[in-house]
Amino acid sequence: MNYTRKQIIAGNWKMYKNQAEAKAFLLKFLPQLHGDRVLWLDEQQRDRVPDIVLCAPFTKLQFLSETLVLSPQNLVLGAQNIHWADEGPFTGEISGQMLNEYNVRYVIVGHSERRLNFCDTDETVCKRLQAAQSHNITPILCVGETKLQREAGLAEEVLTSQLTNSLKGIDLGNLVVAYEPIWAIGTGDTCDAREANRILKHIRTVLQSDRITLLYGGSVKPDNIDELMEQPEIDGVLVGGASLDPDSFARIVNFHLPRP
Ligand code: PGA
Repeated sequence: MNYTRKQIIAGNWKMYKNQAEAKAFLLKFLPQLHGDRVLWLDEQQRDRVPDIVLCAPFTKLQFLSETLVLSPQNLVLGAQNIHWADEGPFTGEISGQMLNEYNVRYVIVGHSERRLNFCDTDETVCKRLQAAQSHNITPILCVGETKLQREAGLAEEVLTSQLTNSLKGIDLGNLVVAYEPIWAIGTGDTCDAREANRILKHIRTVLQSDRITLLYGGSVKPDNIDELMEQPEIDGVLVGGASLDPDSFARIVNFHLPRP
């Protein structure tokens, strides 16, 4: 298997932002990126620059794909769902072929909001992962436990079962896994950085790979990004609420730069 860990800072816009709001976001966000230097790097050096991913609603994919062509090369487009068929009578779904039209590079799969509200299971998650990989889109597989499961001491067991069931037949070479404890999503209750690190270590053990890219997600903000990114197992983050504000998200993607 020929793959290595990559830093990824991904924003999940969920079902937010109309056209005017997306434009206003970019107007404030893009000037805060320092990615213009990326243009001068060779391919190997570019691999070491973090990928900044905007996982946008479907209605924003065309606009963003046209706009991001002109922006720094490490700012790329992500989607929030993918169906396993290329086309068919699947009202409300979207296919890999359709995402390919907009140069979508990443797709979130198995987010707890989809598992809880839209009946995604480990089986459908597995099919979506396969579809993404077959269209050369890197899936970001989300796994995480509820508060009750954590309190019952079942966190590792739940994660192990989600990973083993959804990764049957999946190529670990084109996959990112995000640990997103459900109790930390949208609650402001971030998982302690060292605990997130410990859980990611567990995920590496289950996957039997120390080269897979692992993210943490759940109430990531400008004031906890530094501590999270200092952890040796955390390669990046998946950011919900704080990715909607251009200044917050810019501070998060620029975590490696000195604070103003
Ligand atoms: P949050 O969302 O950052 O608002 O907690 C994270 C996510 O749902 O991916």
